[in-house]
Amino acid sequence: AALYADGDAARGLPACVSCHGAAGNSTITVNPKLAGQHESYLYKQLVNFTTPERNQPVMTTFATMLSDAEKKDIAAYLAAQASKPGAAKNKDTVEIGKRIYRGGIAEKSIPACASCHGASGTGIPVQYPRLAGQHQDYTGAQLTLFRAGGRHNSPQMTTIANRMSDDEIKAVSDYIAGL
Ligand code: HEM
Ligand code: HEM
Repeated sequence: AALYADGDAARGLPACVSCHGAAGNSTITVNPKLAGQHESYLYKQLVNFTTPERNQPVMTTFATMLSDAEKKDIAAYLAAQASKPGAAKNKDTVEIGKRIYRGGIAEKSIPACASCHGASGTGIPVQYPRLAGQHQDYTGAQLTLFRAGGRHNSPQMTTIANRMSDDEIKAVSDYIAGL
């Protein structure tokens, strides 16, 4: 928790709080909220950032600087924080997003997101992350990365994202922000 809030100047490690917000409730929409995310998922991502599975310049640098014990500590700290709710912003597409989230798109063989991420978006530990309340910009960016091949740590999500159009990604990401 100290490392999350303060970083470690001696090692050149910035404070996580500067991007991910107080207690993991990021207010910058390109930086994910981490509060209330499952511990196992958070730890897995910090490990994945250190390999080509999830290469992202900023997080790859910082995750590489964290020891295994520090990754575990930070994951446990963040999982115990309360997640602040978000809101869907586009009432024209929120119904489309809801349909995709709850029922998938049968003609494109896209399964319901709810089947893995839960009806209310809280995910299913150990494997399936919480999505509820996440920033639309971040969720949309990750779906695009899975589709474009920039994030290769989930064959399931790669298959699903490859079947989605930009408009479908936007709609479902906005709906998820309000879950
Ligand atoms: C993503 C943790 C510092 C920017 C993530 C994720 C974790 C994390 C677990 C993945 C979240 C998910 O998959 O839902 C941390 C920790 C930090 C830290 C423990 C401190 C040691 C920072 C800082 C910045 C930053 C200082 C900004 C300069 C980002 C961004 C992403 C991200 C942009 C999304 C990456 C992507 O597009 O794949 N961080 N973070 N983080 N973090 Fe951090
Ligand atoms: C991760 C969205 C359906 C399994 C994710 C993430 C997003 C997402 C945005 C990344 C979360 C983050 O970075 O914090 C969706 C949407 C779906 C959908 C919009 C419906 C269109 C599914 C289904 C499954 C699934 C049906 C199971 C068959 C997973 C898994 C991860 C994940 C295992 C974690 C990958 C990892 O370890 O990095 N999903 N998902 N998702 N999703 Fe989905």
